[in-house]
Amino acid sequence: MRKYHPIVQYYLRPHPGMKNYLRLLGHQHHQYGANVEDYVAFEVTLLSTLGVLHGERWNDDIAMQWREAFQMAVQIMKEGHRDDFVPS
Ligand code: HEM
Repeated sequence: MRKYHPIVQYYLRPHPGMKNYLRLLGHQHHQYGANVEDYVAFEVTLLSTLGVLHGERWNDDIAMQWREAFQMAVQIMKEGHRDDFVPS
């Protein structure tokens, strides 16, 4: 799950460097062939996995924070989902 640290990092510290990283990450996903339409299914799966990993400590507040953090990160990743993206 360490791979998903950028979601938390950007949520806690939404600075321009993280934004640039997330745009680039979005572009890489565009190149992998990931579709932005599939991000909703990805979110559902990630949240349910996190729920299992948290066990008894999982609750609606934590789920809501994760959803918000995920959506913030994905919003920026989507900006990189184009062929002519140039990293800054
Ligand atoms: C439909 C949704 C997604 C698909 C199909 C997908 C697929 C992939 C694939 C194929 C890789 C490259 C293989 C690998 O390094 O394991 C990858 C890497 C990665 N993905 Fe995703 N991904 C999706 C969504 C996301 C989202 C929403 C995030 C949020 C942060 C994310 C974060 C990452 C990261 C951090 C890497 C490693 C990048 C690197 O350092 O090379 N992915 N993903």
